[in-house]
Amino acid sequence: MRRFLRFLKRIWILNFVRRLYMASKYFNVKYLQIVKWGFTSNEDTNFTYKLKDDNIICLAQTIAFVTKKQYSEILGYINEAESNEELKQHIILTTSNSKENRFADKEILFGRRLGWYAFARAIKPRVIIETGVEKGLGSVLLCAAIEKNTKEGYPGRYFGTEINPDAGYLLTGKYREFGQVLYGDSITSLLNFTDNIDLFINDSDHSSEYEYDEYVTIKSLLNEGTIILGDNSHSTNKLSQFSLENNRHFIFFKENPLNHWYPGGGIGISFNER
Ligand SMILES: C[S@@+](CC[C@H](N)C(=O)[O-])C[C@H]1O[C@@H](n2cnc3c(N)ncnc32)[C@H](O)[C@@H]1O
Repeated sequence: MRRFLRFLKRIWILNFVRRLYMASKYFNVKYLQIVKWGFTSNEDTNFTYKLKDDNIICLAQTIAFVTKKQYSEILGYINEAESNEELKQHIILTTSNSKENRFADKEILFGRRLGWYAFARAIKPRVIIETGVEKGLGSVLLCAAIEKNTKEGYPGRYFGTEINPDAGYLLTGKYREFGQVLYGDSITSLLNFTDNIDLFINDSDHSSEYEYDEYVTIKSLLNEGTIILGDNSHSTNKLSQFSLENNRHFIFFKENPLNHWYPGGGIGISFNER
């Protein structure tokens, strides 16, 4: 039998088809997920999904390493965000009252933003900036982290930068008490910003030049403990480059979505030793 298989392998066309089938097996499941998603999801950008369980563990380990906190503490923050029913209800209600409703899904899933939340809970930032707000999923999640921190005696404030005047509609109600959106071009808003930044999340214009310019613009506002998160680091090396140029560490967390065709983005993390 083995000899016969070896003989078949020598026939070029048979071997070609076998090899293509072998390679395509990595992607075929994605086509099924695409069709299912076509029927079950309304999203057409900024996709939301759950992360695989082992990916969540890896995320918590990564954040524990960077912040020098216990793994269990970080995992606790991730679970806290995922089980925040009040926040999820706020998002569902606000979305259903918005004109964007038909492009949104009913289930509220945060993907890699859970990492942003865990960082915000772990380092108790006084100032968080997120560039690029879109509907405001990151905004309300980060404001929910500030709300918890405030109750524990560590108040803070969230600032989102956003060029689209219609964006940020989720940032209402009690979450609005903890933050605001600065409307206009992100770099212009950052140039006018004067406070030190403790947690900076880049997620606006995803061209590599613009991303890099944001890091350079905030350079004078960084302190020893500032953590910079790049939402573009699966596509560009700009946060890695900025970290090298400024003597900062850089690592990259790769997200792995559960049951979704999107291959996942990640979190670039730039930090100093704590
Ligand atoms: C990927 S979305 C942000 C997603 C959001 N961070 C979240 O967690 O869901 C990118 C956003 O950046 C905004 N944007 C693009 N270019 C910008 C610029 N030059 N200044 C400010 N915002 C910009 C877009 O309008 C869009 O809403």
